[in-house]
Amino acid sequence: MSINAVTIIGGGNLGKAIAEGLISSDIVKPRQITVTKRNASTIDTLKKKGVIVTSDNKTAVKKADIIFLCVKPFQAKDIAKEISKSLNSKQIIVSVISGVSIEELEHSLGKNITVFRAMPNTAISIRESMTCISYKNASAGNIKTVETIFNALGKTITIDEKLMDASTILGACGTGFAMRYIRANMQAGIEIGFDAVTASLIAAQTVKGAADLLIKNNSHPEQEIDKVTTPKGVTITGLNQMEHHGLSSSVIKGITEAYKKMNN
Ligand SMILES: NC(=O)c1ccc[n+]([C@@H]2O[C@H](COP(=O)([O-])OP(=O)(O)OC[C@H]3O[C@@H](n4cnc5c(N)ncnc54)[C@H](OP(=O)(O)O)[C@@H]3O)[C@@H](O)[C@H]2O)c1
Repeated sequence: MSINAVTIIGGGNLGKAIAEGLISSDIVKPRQITVTKRNASTIDTLKKKGVIVTSDNKTAVKKADIIFLCVKPFQAKDIAKEISKSLNSKQIIVSVISGVSIEELEHSLGKNITVFRAMPNTAISIRESMTCISYKNASAGNIKTVETIFNALGKTITIDEKLMDASTILGACGTGFAMRYIRANMQAGIEIGFDAVTASLIAAQTVKGAADLLIKNNSHPEQEIDKVTTPKGVTITGLNQMEHHGLSSSVIKGITEAYKKMNN
């Protein structure tokens, strides 16, 4: 499917990030993107880049090939009902809404239309998202279209829908968890002599490089740790101190408690 128009319903944190990622990709031009929001004036920055900004959801979805639903979970049902009559069966809905199933969305839409769920993160704005997608009755062509979009905005994997909540925690909340780890590095970096800006650069680029080592070498963290830990050295001393104070344990606890909270 060639993509002539994309509509994003809900130009908040994630909707705006998807628009920004699309703008910097070759997938569509800014004038082919429409972003909706009730208070549309708050996304003037997108308008200045050539994106169509409106609060009229019904009109916004009519000509779109792909429609991203980026509203809060409690708004999903009303939005689906609102746009339903303006949709046709050739269009693709991609919902990034956490905790709302494909079945629930299909029920609220009340018509035969392909629904994908996707769980990206805010790094989609710089085309570095990890996006998990799932679908039920999608055609090979529609799957290819959705994968093409998300592959242009980072990395994409297809998962079983029952893992969508887990992907929300590990992939989407994961951005927040990683930020807190980097901030802790910065705070320590300042204490041992760097100014905040330098500490931030060193911490962020080091974490980015470490992640790239895993992705590009397809290796396990412990293999990379073995390469930097000299016997009786400073790295192993630091690592063991962190573990004595519960580093791995607190990360595991944070992720599993967040997952439990999501299902409450
Ligand atoms: N943030 C993340 O990292 C992330 C990652 C993965 C998934 N998600 C999921 O993405 C969804 C959005 O999250 P978010 O963080 O982007 O929330 P958000 O910043 O609150 O964005 C939601 C947006 O929807 C707009 N909206 C509300 N009602 C609307 C309506 N009737 N028509 C058009 N727009 C409407 C709101 O603007 P107005 O009030 O001005 O209308 C708001 O800007 C959530 O379901 C979340 O679970 C978020």
